[in-house]
Amino acid sequence: MPLIAKQIYFGFLFITFCIYSFFVYTSDTPSDAKELMTTDAQAGKVIYQQNNCFSCHQLYGLGGYMGPDLTNVISAPGKGEIYTKALIMSGTQKMPNFHLNEQEINSLIAYLKYVDKTGVSPTIKYSINSDGSVNYNQ
Ligand code: HEC
Repeated sequence: MPLIAKQIYFGFLFITFCIYSFFVYTSDTPSDAKELMTTDAQAGKVIYQQNNCFSCHQLYGLGGYMGPDLTNVISAPGKGEIYTKALIMSGTQKMPNFHLNEQEINSLIAYLKYVDKTGVSPTIKYSINSDGSVNYNQ
C-alpha cells in the first residue's frame, strides 16, 4: 500500500475513533433507568454501603457469599417487600440487626426495588446437591 493511502486510511480510522468516543462519553443514561433511581433509592444505596451489606450479600452477582444474592429478593416468589423489611428489622442468627429506623429501611427497600428492576441474578438456574455437586436446570 502506498504511503499516502496508509495515511488516509489511518486518518479515517482516527477520525472515526474520535467521533465514536465523543458519542460514548457524552451519551446520557437511558431516562427510564434514571426515573427508577429515585432520591429514596439513592439514599438506600448509601445506607447499603455504609452498613457494608456487600460484605455478606451480592447484587447483580457481585459481593460477599455469606448471605444470599439480593438482586431479585423483591420479586422472588415467597419473598418480596414485607419479607425483606421484616428480615432487615429483626436480623437473624447469622445476620446482624442494624437497628435502622423506618425511613432508612424504606430507603433500602426503594434501592432493592431499583436493583430488582435493573438486573437478574443468578443468570443461570442451578441447584446444589448435598454432596456439593451442581445441577444446571435449563
Ligand atoms: C454478617 C453478614 C451479613 C451482613 C453484613 C448483612 N447480611 Fe443480610 N443476611 C445474612 C445472612 C447469612 C442471611 C440469610 C439468613 C440467615 O441464614 O440467617 C441474610 C439474609 C438477608 C435477607 C433475606 C434474603 C433472602 O433471599 O431470603 C435480606 C433482605 C438481607 N439479608 C438484607 C441485608 C441488608 C439490607 C444488609 C445491610 C444493611 C444486610 N443484609 C447485611 C448476612 C448478612
